[in-house]
Amino acid sequence: MSLKYLVTGASGQLGALVIDALLKTEAPESIGALVRRPEAAAPLEAKGVTVRLASYDAPEALKAAFDGVERLLLISSSEVGSRATQHQKVIDAARAAGVGFVAYTSILEAKASPLTILPGEHVETEDALAASGLAYAVLRNGWYTENYAMGAPTAVQLGALYGAAGEGRIASAARVDFAEAAAAVLTGELPASGTVFELAGDDSYTLDDFAAQISAITGKEVPYVNLSQSDYAGALKQAGLPDGLAEMLADSDNGASQGGLFSDDKTLSKLIGRPTTPWRDTLKAALA
Ligand SMILES: NC(=O)c1ccc[n+]([C@@H]2O[C@H](COP(=O)([O-])OP(=O)(O)OC[C@H]3O[C@@H](n4cnc5c(N)ncnc54)[C@H](OP(=O)(O)O)[C@@H]3O)[C@@H](O)[C@H]2O)c1
Repeated sequence: MSLKYLVTGASGQLGALVIDALLKTEAPESIGALVRRPEAAAPLEAKGVTVRLASYDAPEALKAAFDGVERLLLISSSEVGSRATQHQKVIDAARAAGVGFVAYTSILEAKASPLTILPGEHVETEDALAASGLAYAVLRNGWYTENYAMGAPTAVQLGALYGAAGEGRIASAARVDFAEAAAAVLTGELPASGTVFELAGDDSYTLDDFAAQISAITGKEVPYVNLSQSDYAGALKQAGLPDGLAEMLADSDNGASQGGLFSDDKTLSKLIGRPTTPWRDTLKAALA
């Protein structure tokens, strides 16, 4: 059966929002959702879209899932460390199945980023796409505002916001903004193969600004306390985060201190045809 669109990672937070964005303009019969867990199918089927089943680790299942697909959104895997291999399998299967176009969710300024943990696998995937012969575009997504906002209730509890981003400015946007951008690229006139979109929020803030806003919203004094990268990683581990996640978050903050989460590129708001969601709104929702 042919499908104009297929979105991978559709059981995830970004993927679900992309499906919703596609449904605003496209017929449900033209939309497919790829999940790896059968139990993730029902909520997507309830939206009227076609669910296909395959893990990024399963080449044959991927090839079958991509049968008849015109335009594929490859949402990067959440399994840091296995992603480059998994994405290569997706790309090979897309090629074997004759997919017409692939958009891939990468990271802001992937090839020039001061972050040291996350960008490597995205660069490998971007290079694999370039070598594949597939028509493709890269959506270099900036930081989700939700990443910081979800830590706000804990900061209120602790009486301080801890981080290692120094004075670095963060031009994040809400997940829904990145989701709408992906849908816009997928449904629009296809960009020239190899086009790279650097996607960031219209506004930016430092973690000092973020803490001040937490204080303003809650009426409680929540100062920002800047730690060294290693002290911050240690604090996150002590708080119960798995080592790998703690190291990744501390490295990302350290990258932010060097401008790695900032961009004044306004491509994101142009793609979605509206300003990006104000970070203060996302923070307010997280504290509600
Ligand atoms: N820009 C940012 O700030 C930021 C922040 C966090 C993550 N990311 C990246 O952006 C992606 C999307 O973000 P998100 O918030 O939607 O993450 P998420 O909610 O964790 O969703 C990840 C999705 O990837 C799927 N997935 C993971 N491993 C897979 C595999 N082996 N085979 C098939 N599917 C697999 C998950 O399926 P299950 O539901 O079965 O687990 C889920 O649907 C993440 O995966 C990560 O690469 C970006």
